[in-house]
Amino acid sequence: MKKILFTRAFQRELLAPYIEGKYEVVMWEEENIPMPRQLLLEKVADVEAIYTNVADQLDEEFFNVAKNLKAVATMGVGYDNIAIDIATEKGIPVGHTPDVLSEAVAELAVALMYTCSRRIRESMDFIRNGQWKAWGPFMFAGSRIKGSTIGIIGMGRIGKELADIVNRLGMKILYHNRRRDHESEERYEARYCSLEELLKQSDVIVMLAPLTDQTRHMLGYEEFSMMKNTAIFINVSRGPVVNEKDLFQILKENKIFAAGLDVFEIEPIKATHELLTLPNVVTTPHIGSATIETRLRMLDITMNNIVNALEGKEMLFTVNKDIYQPSKF
Ligand code: DGY
Repeated sequence: MKKILFTRAFQRELLAPYIEGKYEVVMWEEENIPMPRQLLLEKVADVEAIYTNVADQLDEEFFNVAKNLKAVATMGVGYDNIAIDIATEKGIPVGHTPDVLSEAVAELAVALMYTCSRRIRESMDFIRNGQWKAWGPFMFAGSRIKGSTIGIIGMGRIGKELADIVNRLGMKILYHNRRRDHESEERYEARYCSLEELLKQSDVIVMLAPLTDQTRHMLGYEEFSMMKNTAIFINVSRGPVVNEKDLFQILKENKIFAAGLDVFEIEPIKATHELLTLPNVVTTPHIGSATIETRLRMLDITMNNIVNALEGKEMLFTVNKDIYQPSKF
């Protein structure tokens, strides 16, 4: 019987419809702790498929020991943690879960935006610390969202979903992308501009660009310095697209208003990290797609990606589609 390795614990009832006595489940029994690297390397040597996630590093060493592997399926849209070129060389399809999570991630970006603009974190701390003695005319006065300008870096599926929401919130939309997106321009009145113009003109800047060699540290001190000192910066993409030390410095010097961060250069971020000492930094633990509905849809797609590959069919969403070209076999 073919084996599927799950690098996180899932309730067996959720998997039953896909497995149905056809596959053997090899499971790391922790839901919120990554499978230890050595164990991952040991277990993958003997399985046909892996159900993975953003916290596992599927690098050269991994693919070298994964001798029987026929399918890699990650529960997420991003795949910067997987050596796609090596998987492709070995003819292994890599599946992911685009589309279904766009709405959830866009909604989290909006939640972080309002949390920053209305100073919710500081307000909560103020009450909890027993500092609230009376109402004050300008106490925790924040900034208005309606009528302000949002700059979206990366107009992919999540960018479009975000543009749809903020268009209805009455925000003006600027975007920067590798290519112009005429559909978003028409539908959401989004205006394409250079990164520099976006950084200078926007009141809220949302980072959605995927992590690649080209986007690593795309925003550093110089770029943050271009932002308005009232600007709010949101990152729901990947931590390393931003130079975190520079972001800390800019926030400390009060050169931007606030930051809402769901992702970090090193995850999990340490509780003692300097960014967490700042009152105007709102953080969440990489929960962009974490609604129950979305996570169930992601599980369904990930399982279908695996089962399809094991049955010799195309995955529902394949990252390295080249492997399906006849010349590759
Ligand atoms: C994604 O879908 O890429 C999320 O960041 C979780 O991995």
